[in-house]
Amino acid sequence: MSVLVTGGAGFIGRWVVKSLLEQGQEVYVLDNLTNGSLDNLDEFRDNPKFKEPVIGDIINRAIVKDLFGEGFDTCLHLAASIHVHKSVDDPYTTFMNDVLGTFHILEACRKHGTRLVYMSTCHVYDQAAPNQSIGEDHPAKPVSPYAGSKLAGEKMVLSYHYAYGLPAVILRPFNTYGPFQKGGPEGGVVSIFLQNKIAGRPLIIHGDGSQTRDLLYVEDCAGFIVEVINHREINGEIINAGTGRDISVRDLARLIAGNEGEVCHIPHVGPRSEVPKFLCNYQKAWRLLGWNPEITIKDGLARTENWFMGVTGR
Ligand SMILES: NC(=O)c1ccc[n+]([C@@H]2O[C@H](COP(=O)([O-])OP(=O)(O)OC[C@H]3O[C@@H](n4cnc5c(N)ncnc54)[C@H](O)[C@@H]3O)[C@@H](O)[C@H]2O)c1
Repeated sequence: MSVLVTGGAGFIGRWVVKSLLEQGQEVYVLDNLTNGSLDNLDEFRDNPKFKEPVIGDIINRAIVKDLFGEGFDTCLHLAASIHVHKSVDDPYTTFMNDVLGTFHILEACRKHGTRLVYMSTCHVYDQAAPNQSIGEDHPAKPVSPYAGSKLAGEKMVLSYHYAYGLPAVILRPFNTYGPFQKGGPEGGVVSIFLQNKIAGRPLIIHGDGSQTRDLLYVEDCAGFIVEVINHREINGEIINAGTGRDISVRDLARLIAGNEGEVCHIPHVGPRSEVPKFLCNYQKAWRLLGWNPEITIKDGLARTENWFMGVTGR
């Protein structure tokens, strides 16, 4: 099977590429490198099933059209602007990448009969009531242009499924962390905390840190995506992935800091787009795909910290 991974040079993308290659599939990557890097793909260079990555933009319809001439069985569409706060400051870029870009991918899939696996996000959901986990039927409430754009992309994907019979699946993974995630202000909460700890800086919490996250280790996330690719009979579905356990940002900081690290609080900069509770119900993924997460938060954090220590040489 040949698979195109858009955004394949990014954090989750490189793990998906790895899993696909381990299964013996032929893998193509399209990425404009605005938030990814070819270094993330270095270890696959010698694998004959890994094709030379195409550096290009999904906003450019001609590039997408040309590339689909290769004839893919499946397109795994990960390329996107992924930052909630940035999307509030710059909705234009997010809209272009996440909505227009998705439209170009959809058109190419329609023309070539390529199955589409669309990477949405848990950020499309309305905030959960206390102690309630979020299943796929939970109401949507996009509180940022990022969430709005992802939801628009989802609706377009479903419209192609219903109008043209396009085989397509929508995925809503919860917050994902692990090796290769960026650590700076643009990274996820785990990578930011870990990098600060390793550098001997305090772990800074915006607000009181009572907001919770369901943190999914990236290899579990990649395993989930690859299961969807393998289950070709499943289409027209929206499927969550998470761990079914949430942790407050405050507890996460304490867990990462351990005895030696310092944790401090500062006022929140973007409360309008902050979501107080995220807890995933992944029963549908289990029922349809037989998927469940395998890595505990403790193990995932240890693996990620080891990786960051290797990168920083500490
Ligand atoms: N990281 C998470 O916690 C998380 C959770 C749920 C869903 N997602 C979704 O998973 C996908 C991958 O996220 P990630 O965390 O790996 O982010 P990432 O930024 O590391 O990966 C996205 C990749 O897309 C590329 N890209 C962006 N715009 C592009 C364009 N116009 N044309 C071509 N390439 C473009 C970037 O260079 C980057 O390599 C995204 O769709 C994101 O919305 C992420």
